[in-house]
Amino acid sequence: MSTALIILAAGQGTRMNSDLPKVLHKLGGVPLFAHALAAGRALDAEKTVLVVGYGGDDVARAAHAIDPDIVIVEQGEQLGTGHAVAQARGAMRDFEGEVVVLYGDTPFIRPQTLRAMADARADFDLVVLGFEATGPGRYGRLIMNGPHLKRIVEFKNADAAQKKITFCNSGIKMASARVMFDLIGRVESENAGGEYYLTDIVEIANQRGLSATAVSCDEAETLGVNSRQELAAAEAAFQKRARADALENGVALTAPDTVFFALDTVLARDVVVEPNVVFGAGVTVDSGALIRAFSHLEGCHVGSGAIVGPYARLRPGADLSKDARVGNFVELKNSAIGEGSQVNHLAYVGDTTIGAHSNIGGGAVTCNFDGVSKHRTIIGDRAFIGSDTMLIAPVKIGDEAMTASGSVITKDVPDGALAVGRAAQKIFPGGARKLFEKYKAAKAGRGKSQ
Ligand code: UD1
Ligand code: MG
Repeated sequence: MSTALIILAAGQGTRMNSDLPKVLHKLGGVPLFAHALAAGRALDAEKTVLVVGYGGDDVARAAHAIDPDIVIVEQGEQLGTGHAVAQARGAMRDFEGEVVVLYGDTPFIRPQTLRAMADARADFDLVVLGFEATGPGRYGRLIMNGPHLKRIVEFKNADAAQKKITFCNSGIKMASARVMFDLIGRVESENAGGEYYLTDIVEIANQRGLSATAVSCDEAETLGVNSRQELAAAEAAFQKRARADALENGVALTAPDTVFFALDTVLARDVVVEPNVVFGAGVTVDSGALIRAFSHLEGCHVGSGAIVGPYARLRPGADLSKDARVGNFVELKNSAIGEGSQVNHLAYVGDTTIGAHSNIGGGAVTCNFDGVSKHRTIIGDRAFIGSDTMLIAPVKIGDEAMTASGSVITKDVPDGALAVGRAAQKIFPGGARKLFEKYKAAKAGRGKSQ
């Protein structure tokens, strides 16, 4: 059975006190809505519809950066969660499989929870995800009769007895597309809030002789983000879970609480991560690599056996082959470092391809930007770039070529050649002493005149 996701993300998130739409705030290095998306993806969804409203263009752009196939629908006025789902009807016209409605601001739903809901669909037309709330607050209350879910009562409309119910609505729902949109079409807005409540589809389903149930999950999964406080708490919860997962997967973390992950960080078994390391979005590290203390990585790949840091910065497009080494105060961007090659100290390497077993000396810089455009540097195998070499891109250094320390290299260096691009050294015997005497005399002269 094919599955489609409808992710509701139209709200501004007033309580965030921000110009940025709520779902674009970052959690685990990626926009908030990407978490719901990732959980839904575990169901092999063939279609994803994102309902946007506030800051819709920005949300659409962020969504398409993750997956260009995401269908964006606009909800001009936010008239409620039922109205939001109704906006997806056109985009889902030809779709006949299962529909899962997720909230863009609810990041912790586990894939296995969605699978449990899919399993429950075998026996019920409509499945809602519920949870036992320690403080049920303003959540919608689930009115059960045995395994049957009869209705959801929004807090605003609940009577005193219903408010005492602790089994609450997470918001997530699953049904066939046909049933979902048939029910949505019947939702009205005659209620205390004047809104189209998605939650009303449960009672409507029962009235129409369809069956509904609630699958239960841990309350922590349903945590929503509505304020900066909650976002910070969610970040802490995300990191806690990511650290536990990494350890579970065979990664060594010497000080887990000081290592920060992104949603898509992939660390293989037997990777070692020292304290105070930050993984931004898009990092993959292969088995046996060592990430040393105080390194910052994003959008990069570290091959097996490679050593990074301490104090290294790997920016997007950095790709380290097996056994490469990138040392302290080195910045890499959009550059491939070949097998066994080393960039050990205080270097900048950008828009560069380095072959195997080459050595880039301390202080070397690939001057990739001329103020207008970026240019590439190509370095061959077993090459030696002397300390403090400035490689003015575009430039090519051949296999087994060498540049002298302090050189400014503006022309290609052929295989095996030595390039020296600096002023020749001159020696003036006794020159230093003469100079010191001259300076001292000048200083003494100034002293007298004062
Ligand atoms: C909703 C549920 C409530 C549940 C709670 C769980 C309804 C009527 N109520 O309440 O039962 O316990 O979530 O957190 O569904 N959104 C839109 N367009 C709209 C309205 C909302 O896209 O017109 C989006 C929001 O951006 C948000 C999500 O839908 O991502 C939920 O909306 P929200 O206003 O937070 O609903 P709650 O009042 O929390
Ligand atoms: Mg809410």
